[in-house]
Amino acid sequence: MSSELAIAQHIKYIQALGKQKDDLIYHKTAHLRMNAVYWGLTATCILGRPDALDREEMIAYVMSCWDDEAGGFGAHTGHDAHIHSTLSAIQIMVMQDALDRIDIERVTQFILSLQQPSGVFAGDAFGEVDTRFLYIAVNALALLGRLGDLDQEKTVEYVRQCRNYDGGFGRIVGSESHAGQVFVCTAALAILDRLDVIDEPTLAWWLAERQLPNGGLNGRPQKLEDVCYSFWALSALSVLRKLHWIDAAALTSFILSAQDMEVGGIADRPGNMADIFHTHFGIAGLSLVGYPGLVDLDPVFCMPASVIEKKGLRKGWEALPRQKV
Ligand code: FPP
Ligand code: ZN
Repeated sequence: MSSELAIAQHIKYIQALGKQKDDLIYHKTAHLRMNAVYWGLTATCILGRPDALDREEMIAYVMSCWDDEAGGFGAHTGHDAHIHSTLSAIQIMVMQDALDRIDIERVTQFILSLQQPSGVFAGDAFGEVDTRFLYIAVNALALLGRLGDLDQEKTVEYVRQCRNYDGGFGRIVGSESHAGQVFVCTAALAILDRLDVIDEPTLAWWLAERQLPNGGLNGRPQKLEDVCYSFWALSALSVLRKLHWIDAAALTSFILSAQDMEVGGIADRPGNMADIFHTHFGIAGLSLVGYPGLVDLDPVFCMPASVIEKKGLRKGWEALPRQKV
């Protein structure tokens, strides 16, 4: 069992990821490549090593994923544009202070073109719809300074329709509550200044009940704990200013016990293989519970708080006091 965050190993693990281009896993994960660059960069920033990855190489990679026909970014060079990879590309460029390299007008039009008459967003031209894509649109437009172009009332109305009797939110109207979807809906409403749509006491209870006796959080009742829910549920609790309803020490031990102490990285739960998704969301969760030495994370944009502050988008979410080293 590990009682400390293995910062040096995690940095090495993240640095090694992009270099294993002969690996089967590298090829099998091409559809997540742009997201993985965002997860890796955010994690290194939260660990206090924003320079751990090569900036110029990263910017060139993002630009190589531009889909000039659609006006958005694909998940990897040569892939069709998708709203999720487009958000990751924007987040990377904002963190690298290189937003001026992208065609903001075209990206804005690409995102807005994906909104459906109901208010929800599709992920791409193929049309799958989900509240994840709605949040992605709101986050991206806010970072681009183009929220004013969005039909905000229609967007909020769709989220309102996804609210369930237990206070949570689902993927589409009528779907069951799920902590990942609670994150996207709460964060979208937070950015749009529409927290009035949330049944706050009921949702805060539902979220606090996600913590299991082993300290980890699950995404729905009767499901197993998973490190990534440390972020999905904590983000929403932070917006509701109820982070202190979680046993932070127990959650911290759970996340730390899912680390690979030799190779670095964090898994979904202890004993499983580490991956960059759970490494990033585990570190994000630790930042929100005040783990010593970490950089503050903005729970709504899931980026370093200082970056969001600089863009004038930071609001006063609850943060647990950073513990002393
Ligand atoms: C559950 O993952 C998580 C969600 C449904 C939320 C995902 C959110 C996004 C993709 C938006 C972008 C996010 C950020 C932070 C910028 P899962 O499908 O693995 O759920 P499972 O645990 O039920 O399999
Ligand atoms: Zn997970």
